[in-house]
Amino acid sequence: MQPKEISISYRTHSRKDSLSGQDQLLLEKAREATSNAYAPYSKFYVGVAIRTLDGDVVAGSNQENSSFPVGQCAEKVALYRLTHELGRKPVEAIAIVVSNEHQTNPASPCGSCRQILNEYRNFQEQPIRILLGSVNSQEVIEINDVRDLLPFAFDGTFLGI
Ligand code: THU
Repeated sequence: MQPKEISISYRTHSRKDSLSGQDQLLLEKAREATSNAYAPYSKFYVGVAIRTLDGDVVAGSNQENSSFPVGQCAEKVALYRLTHELGRKPVEAIAIVVSNEHQTNPASPCGSCRQILNEYRNFQEQPIRILLGSVNSQEVIEINDVRDLLPFAFDGTFLGI
């Protein structure tokens, strides 16, 4: 039996100006959101900006707590805020920007956020592009679909939904 393979494709932009104006703006909104992060413990400030298919943008940032597991990632804050404020509108792109003195490279979403983003993705037809950036670098990683970040995902189909 031949092993099966899963591959994902992504792009690395060495400079932000190779992105569309809309995507540059989304990254800028995510960068701005890092300043609203509450991260006195990790000092790892994350900003997220989500653009819906019809052009609305909602941002969020990570919110920590002295009881560490109680804190929330920026992706969750932004996505739940979007759902609450605008309803479950189709999402086109999500920019995630990190600000940390030791971290120059863009960081990618944690496993728990991938699960949450994947759940949202399953309720819409179209892919959700991910743009990863860092305030300390010009580099942007572009992933075609959040689904690519979670192969063999657990989803509602296992629960008969
Ligand atoms: N963090 C996020 O906001 N998003 C991620 O996907 C990874 C981690 C936050 C959680 C915590 O406040 C800090 O970054 C360090 O883990």
